[in-house]
Amino acid sequence: MELRIPAALALVVASAISAPAEEIGEATFQQYCATCHGLDAKGEGPLTELLLEKVPDLTVLTQENDGKFPMLDVIHIVDGRTGVRAHGGPMPVYGRIFSAEAADHGTYSAVMEARGRILSIAYYLESLQN
Ligand code: HEC
Repeated sequence: MELRIPAALALVVASAISAPAEEIGEATFQQYCATCHGLDAKGEGPLTELLLEKVPDLTVLTQENDGKFPMLDVIHIVDGRTGVRAHGGPMPVYGRIFSAEAADHGTYSAVMEARGRILSIAYYLESLQN
């Protein structure tokens, strides 16, 4: 599985690595992910009591991947429309949610905004690794 990052997105990524974007990643994580994964991302959010499936600790992704943060897998998993989780699961499909939320900015902007938010979250998660 390979994800090709278009040039325009590379620009978004370049500017996303600055400190404010990591804050965006953190705020987005707390808003959309912490209910299940917990504010500390260790998998103990309040919704876990209602889920049959165990919610994974997101601070050990690097540790579980031979010391390398699985950036592309994380992007695919969070986007949810392609790749490893395309078959479904308890986690919402954030690629669709973020695009829908930005739909009134136009199709192109909605796509870019969804990808930017997912990337910001991925960089934030990378910064949390043990
Ligand atoms: C409704 C609860 C719920 C919410 C909300 C949720 N997740 Fe998850 N997440 C899960 C469950 C359960 C799994 C394990 C099963 C699966 O992969 O679908 C998981 C798996 C993952 C994985 C894969 C971890 C691994 O060890 O392979 C990542 C990365 C992840 N979630 C990130 C996120 C991010 C980022 C958000 C917010 C944008 C989020 N999740 C929101 C429940 C949730």
